[in-house]
Amino acid sequence: MKNNRISRERSIAKNPIKLKPYFRDARGYFVLYHGDCLDILQGLKDIDLIFADPPYFLSNDGFTCHAGKQVSVNKGKWDKSRGVSWNHDFNRKWLSACRNALEADGSLWVSGTQHAIYSIGFAMQELGFKMLNSIVWFKTNAPPNLSCRYFTHSHETIIWAAPDKKSRHVFNYKEMKAENLGRQMRDVWSLTAPGPDEKKQGKHPTQKPLKLLERIIRASTQPGDLVLDPFTGSSTTGMAAVSLGRRFVGIDTERKFLDLSIRRFEAMNIMRPDACRNSILIPPQKPRFKQPRKSTFFKSVKLSNSFRKHA
Ligand SMILES: C[S@@+](CC[C@H](N)C(=O)[O-])C[C@H]1O[C@@H](n2cnc3c(N)ncnc32)[C@H](O)[C@@H]1O
Repeated sequence: MKNNRISRERSIAKNPIKLKPYFRDARGYFVLYHGDCLDILQGLKDIDLIFADPPYFLSNDGFTCHAGKQVSVNKGKWDKSRGVSWNHDFNRKWLSACRNALEADGSLWVSGTQHAIYSIGFAMQELGFKMLNSIVWFKTNAPPNLSCRYFTHSHETIIWAAPDKKSRHVFNYKEMKAENLGRQMRDVWSLTAPGPDEKKQGKHPTQKPLKLLERIIRASTQPGDLVLDPFTGSSTTGMAAVSLGRRFVGIDTERKFLDLSIRRFEAMNIMRPDACRNSILIPPQKPRFKQPRKSTFFKSVKLSNSFRKHA
């Protein structure tokens, strides 16, 4: 792992990339870059957590249902498939760049549907990631299937992984258990897709719900940590990160989505000054320790007994 780390750092030092942010708030807690993440990731390192919501390659000129109406499934040029091999090669490249940018004990979450998630999972295994969990996000308000030739699509998979077999990832186990009313949290999460209240500043065609990102960030980072989203879109990840006292870096190829991100960030500052106060009070810092290797086995034995009691 150490050698790995050294060679990554050397390669960054050899090819320094001067990055000029598209936007940076006064304190440097919310930073956006305009461009291809394959280029920009080369200049970033020491990231504690990456959440990636990459193109799903599902814009195939088909139809879906939105608000009871038949609408095109196309999200934009960036979501067009260029064939299975090209898509897999792209997934391998950005995943490899993410792995290089991560702290040795950081972690990566990637969301996807059946159109992309198998390639992503395979590429992660090829690159040596340590797979931690595969979360099913069950969308409680999924639209009906218009063709009536398939089951209604109503979930996304979110893979959680650490960059290396030896990584000691952060998992805020107790916080997740408390959120699940005192029971160990499972890997199926029922959450609605974002409603109009999360789209007041404008819409992104594939916007993620804030609650999903808040849970991910609370589960796997400490206050002050650095969170990155290489496909930031409307920066839902950034909203969740900053409101929870973490720092954020987002990347997108489309200016219109970066502008939407800025509007969301500024509206959050005005509407919820308490949210940003968290970041101001907590100076950027490294957590003193990451998750200890030993503890969880005995805890889980105790837990399964208490499950039996409630059964
Ligand atoms: C699935 S959307 C992300 C939506 C986001 N999670 C949200 O909540 O708004 C993917 C985004 O990646 C951007 N994108 C596509 N290819 C990219 C690339 N190579 N580098 C950076 N951004 C890219 C698209 O413009 C799009 O906004």
